Amino acid sequence: MQLDTLFNKHDKFTNKDYSNFDHSKVLPRHRWYHFKEGFSPLVVEEAIDSANLGKDDLIIDPFAGSGTVPLVASSLNYNSIGFEVNPFLAFVANAKQSKINPDHLKSHVSTVLDGINKGAKSNLEGFSTFTEDDKNSKWLFNIDVIRSFEGGWQATENLPREIKKLFRLSLISSVMNNSNAKKDGKCLRYKKNWQDISYNKTMFHDDFLKNIDVIHEDIETYRLKNKGKLVGGDVRKKINNHLTRKFKLCITSPPYLNSFDYTDIYRPELFLGKFVNDNKELNDLRLKTIRSHVQINWKKPVKTDFGILYQNCINEILNRKELLWNNKIPLMVQAYFEDMDNLLTKLKHKAHDDASLWIIVSTSAYAGVEIPVDLILADIGSKIGWNLEEVIVSRHLRNSNQNAIKWNNGEATSGRLRESIVIFKGVN
Ligand SMILES: C[S@@+](CC[C@H](N)C(=O)[O-])C[C@H]1O[C@@H](n2cnc3c(N)ncnc32)[C@H](O)[C@@H]1O
Repeated sequence: MQLDTLFNKHDKFTNKDYSNFDHSKVLPRHRWYHFKEGFSPLVVEEAIDSANLGKDDLIIDPFAGSGTVPLVASSLNYNSIGFEVNPFLAFVANAKQSKINPDHLKSHVSTVLDGINKGAKSNLEGFSTFTEDDKNSKWLFNIDVIRSFEGGWQATENLPREIKKLFRLSLISSVMNNSNAKKDGKCLRYKKNWQDISYNKTMFHDDFLKNIDVIHEDIETYRLKNKGKLVGGDVRKKINNHLTRKFKLCITSPPYLNSFDYTDIYRPELFLGKFVNDNKELNDLRLKTIRSHVQINWKKPVKTDFGILYQNCINEILNRKELLWNNKIPLMVQAYFEDMDNLLTKLKHKAHDDASLWIIVSTSAYAGVEIPVDLILADIGSKIGWNLEEVIVSRHLRNSNQNAIKWNNGEATSGRLRESIVIFKGVN
């Protein structure tokens, strides 16, 4: 592969932070739930612009996350299908495409506020670190907050389905805003002065009302012409049955190969929203995710033919295996590319001859070895029959792994990870 001719044919994408959710903080509907790992709606618009789509063409995202692709597609009146394994994120993605009448939302607010004010005992009291008890020195939610949340939740039980979704989204968003910890990379970190802040019912109540006002404003002023389909579950299993016609554009950001487990970091939301009820259900869910993390015992991979770049870096990692923080990492790397190889093959069969495929991904590093995930995916896609158009470096990220000495094609490089957009155009 000629790297210099593949990289950045167009510099319009460089340093645009397309894989950054920050743009979405102020955009209608996208702003209903802060999903740090989401990408910018601007990159989706860019892909749609360049894909030459007809009005009936289908856009898909196999890793829909918080639903950026379906939402942009619906707002531009295109049909879309998104797949998402994490039921909480699938719920967010679905709720953001609501087409309800804004007045109906307002007419039920007092029912939910009554529930918040009354409060209700939560099943999560005493479970793990959700609330204060004898064994925890730190806890995620003060009793006042979790009971207000639960009271509000129960009050939504008999509301119309579409309205219930929006209230429940606001309740989860508010309970997370009023948590003693916040997301920080791969973990939840306690806020410095969480004890002084002393989150309580009034703070939760006010935050909930603010969220509802934002949602109300957006559904009133930003009505959707279309509504995309969201398929919950493991895309590796679901794609054949649910993609019943060929697509013209697939734009997606798979989990990065960085051992980040979305079912772990979104664990509070999964339990609060009753998407999972115990650790067994959480574990079952983890097994349905792409093999990009090591905390669970997934099936061992068997394929190895992912090209020379893959082979070089897996050899290099194995040479340095004493530096790895977990001995399953080489298998995880192999399993990740096996999952992506299988998915790209399935996608090829469901693609129009002139379909575009955009993959946003970053490189990763283990034991000081940089894995050029973008280029390995470019190799895999080309081998399967996707025509590689270009690999665009959109930005560089600082690597959190102190031990990482960058390595690329056998040469040491600077200490930053690369985030790229890999673009394929057409299948042969
Ligand atoms: C980088 S995020 C996608 C973010 C999305 N582009 C957005 O803007 O919100 C990757 C997503 O893939 C999902 N995922 C992981 N394994 C999956 C699987 N087997 N099937 C479907 N989705 C999966 C994760 O839950 C996560 O939400």
